[in-house]
Amino acid sequence: MTSQEILKKYIAFYTRQGHKEIPNMNLVPEGDSTLLFVNSGMFPLVPYLSGEPHPLGKRLVNVQRSVRFSDIDEVGDNRHTTAFHMMGNWSLGDYFKREQLPWVYHYFIDELGLDPHRLYATVFEGDTYAPKDTESITLIKEIFSHYGIDAKEGVRIFAYGRDDNWWQRGDAPGELGGPDSEIFYYLGTDRTGEGKDPSQFQDEFLEIGNSVFMQYRKNTQNGWDELPQKNVDFGGGLERIALVVQKKRDIFETDSFYPIIQKLEELTNNTYRHNEEVTRAMRIIADHMRAATFLAMDGVTPSNKDQGYVLRRYLRRMVRFARKLNIKNNIAASLVPTIAHMLAWLYPDLTQKQENITQIFIEEEERFHNALTKGEAELHRQLQKIDTKDATKLVEFAFGLYQSYGYPPEFFMEELREQNIITDSKPFMEQYQHFVTQHQETSRKGAEQKFKGGLADHSDAVVRYHTATHLLHMALRAIVGTHVQQYGSNITKDRLRFDFSHTDKLTEEQTRQVESLINETIQKKLPVNFVMLPKAEAEKSGALHFFKDKYGDQVKVYYIGDALETAVSKEYCGGPHVKNLSELSPTLIVFKQESVGKGVRRLYAHFA
Ligand code: ALA
Repeated sequence: MTSQEILKKYIAFYTRQGHKEIPNMNLVPEGDSTLLFVNSGMFPLVPYLSGEPHPLGKRLVNVQRSVRFSDIDEVGDNRHTTAFHMMGNWSLGDYFKREQLPWVYHYFIDELGLDPHRLYATVFEGDTYAPKDTESITLIKEIFSHYGIDAKEGVRIFAYGRDDNWWQRGDAPGELGGPDSEIFYYLGTDRTGEGKDPSQFQDEFLEIGNSVFMQYRKNTQNGWDELPQKNVDFGGGLERIALVVQKKRDIFETDSFYPIIQKLEELTNNTYRHNEEVTRAMRIIADHMRAATFLAMDGVTPSNKDQGYVLRRYLRRMVRFARKLNIKNNIAASLVPTIAHMLAWLYPDLTQKQENITQIFIEEEERFHNALTKGEAELHRQLQKIDTKDATKLVEFAFGLYQSYGYPPEFFMEELREQNIITDSKPFMEQYQHFVTQHQETSRKGAEQKFKGGLADHSDAVVRYHTATHLLHMALRAIVGTHVQQYGSNITKDRLRFDFSHTDKLTEEQTRQVESLINETIQKKLPVNFVMLPKAEAEKSGALHFFKDKYGDQVKVYYIGDALETAVSKEYCGGPHVKNLSELSPTLIVFKQESVGKGVRRLYAHFA
């Protein structure tokens, strides 16, 4: 059975249960969003799950392309992908567990022909916010008994905690969530796997569907309130379901990926199973290729910001793994036709768009190849010479490569990880960010004037502008939006300069509002103080930071206001600052703005 047939049967089955099909939407969320990409079918449905009536009624079904970029490090095994299709059905305050559970098992067993002996269920075990889902246990037992299976808890049905059996899209107050019941397929070699706990034998089980009983909303106290309506949000990964239906053990051997793998075999004159490294590289390229194509199809172009940056990362990472396979040229571009052909049944438009997409990919790859060739050669040369145990040296080295050749720190880090020089990428990248920030602040002073955790020039005028910088950061976030983040800053005794993430030029109106907010705040003559806090607490305080220090476990948080809780501005910062806003001149004026690269704006301001 092809993926197309699997999907067709799903839509047809749920249509018979009174569902209306809704569209497969663009991956880039409309309007402002806390997430970069649509990451599940429920994404566009939040208002309706919250109670707003949907024009098509209370029963909906669809397939939705989705991207979960945060799973990128998992890609390379037999099942993880960052881009996938989620088949979904929803009850908007209509049916609930009693209908959904029998339907979904019916679909898997009777429509797709899966062996019920290989299916396993999980449910929520309960905690302070929501009780154990005994209702689902009873229903699932009934379902299995139809097929002559005695589904005992601990043998075929397993109750797990919040980490496994609770679904929510994000963590912010207002997010919807609820207990869920997952269906696992046993991939192992004995006939049924009975008695094996899926959480203990993860390699032998594959999650193929998840019914979320979405009946809660997160409140501001970190707890959960009941929603006025009880919803169902089911999601099943089409590619994973194809894996079990097509009796594979590897998602990359299903019809959603295999044509790409075959094309790679052809391009490299190598075989997919040649060795682990080749298999992994081909899997990563296949996954990233699909993701990159979907993004380009949805109008994203490579850039240094947001979705564009993710597309760039996908393309660059592909180039890197292609080089491991000895493909030197235009890897992404040469695979676009394969994807377009493979997915023409779902995305007929891709055929028209493929030329345009290919062109975008070629340009990006070429730009990158140059940087990479030079950077890599230097990396290998220098790695012999430096003390790789010295984290600071490594970070400095990475930064040097970036400055000289544009060699990305992520690649540096991955290279070191593969050579077992570092084990965990996150601390390295955090330390790198920290270093970059420091570098930006010191560079204006010249290399000879290194400093630790603060401004080198402590003249009163500079200190005043430093405090004004915090006010500007605060005001931009209040007026322009909380996507504004500091990229860098530069201060002289005569003015401040501030770089931040934002695409458009500030309008006159916005500039005026930013100035007024700053100047009104100065009028309040608020005190400026700092506290030293353990990292976790500093983070909880909501203080802004654009780097985290790996080694210090205490951070210095500067805040403007009477207390940390009520402060108008809080930032991780080395200081120094004025003691009170009354030390500032009353009027700060923005006198110039410009763009410094895609998605980064620069403002200059001085006191009148
Ligand atoms: N929204 C649920 C999920 O993504 C179905 O698993």
